[in-house]
Amino acid sequence: MDNYVAGLSLFGGKNANLGPDPSLAYRPNLEMNDTIERKDYRNFENGSLIDRVFNTYKLMHTNQTLDFVNQKHSVWASCNHTQMKMMDAIMSLDKLVDESDPDVDFPNSFHAFQTAEGIRQAHPDNDWFQLVGLIHDVGKTMAFWGEPQWAVVGDTFPVGCKFQNSIVFRGNTFLDNPDEKSPSYNTEYGIHETNCGLDKVFMSWGHDECLYRVLKYNNCSIPDQGLYMIRFHSFYPWHSHGDYMHLCNEKDLLMLPWVQQFNKFDLYTKTTELPDVDKLKPYYQSLIDKYCPGILKW
Ligand SMILES: [Fe+2]
Ligand SMILES: [Fe+2]
Repeated sequence: MDNYVAGLSLFGGKNANLGPDPSLAYRPNLEMNDTIERKDYRNFENGSLIDRVFNTYKLMHTNQTLDFVNQKHSVWASCNHTQMKMMDAIMSLDKLVDESDPDVDFPNSFHAFQTAEGIRQAHPDNDWFQLVGLIHDVGKTMAFWGEPQWAVVGDTFPVGCKFQNSIVFRGNTFLDNPDEKSPSYNTEYGIHETNCGLDKVFMSWGHDECLYRVLKYNNCSIPDQGLYMIRFHSFYPWHSHGDYMHLCNEKDLLMLPWVQQFNKFDLYTKTTELPDVDKLKPYYQSLIDKYCPGILKW
């Protein structure tokens, strides 16, 4: 635990997550970007992509039940779908456009390099953080093995307990989810215990948990803070709305500022100005070689 406790000084101490925005001091000048204003991100009310986004969430909120999540854990746990190098996985994302994302309509491989470069600009000496920026969405490759986008992309939320109001489109998208009517699930804690820790909570199935499991399975050496960023970066009800704290343990609260810090880069580096990927590849390959080298099992 020492490692990440020490790291919290970056964000002004353990209570930094209680402030308005723990990353303000370290955010690069990305919010000054003149291509997209900060307020324009994550608009789930209108915009040119809103129908596609809503439909993806409607399917997700109808079908992501505890049973479904359990089933996906067993399908993906043994990492027997393919063997692939990390850079090849990242580049395969240029065939994928995230249908839950209201902000971008270009392939996900660009988003990987945009996020990594944003982190590199602000944290030039923190190589694992930059690598996390590059790889954080690689679990979306699940879509190439037949998983529908509603089981791959989008915000995540706990299953097996009440779906909280902080979930995007909460109002009218869970009506056909059988868990919504289950008396044992539809309480504040559901199947979970007080402060059990997010590690024990079943999250809706998606690319966060998928990549986390791949990295663990392949014994990659990314530090705990980075693994948390990867595993919970889509858990907006928690890291951006302060919900589900009753399920968190001490470690989760210590990790929260790291996840929040990561989120700024995930979000605010999305611009229509696309990076020169070929030029950036050699640098990022060296980070892959350090932290998740060789052929990985997925
Ligand atoms: Fe993501
Ligand atoms: Fe992302």
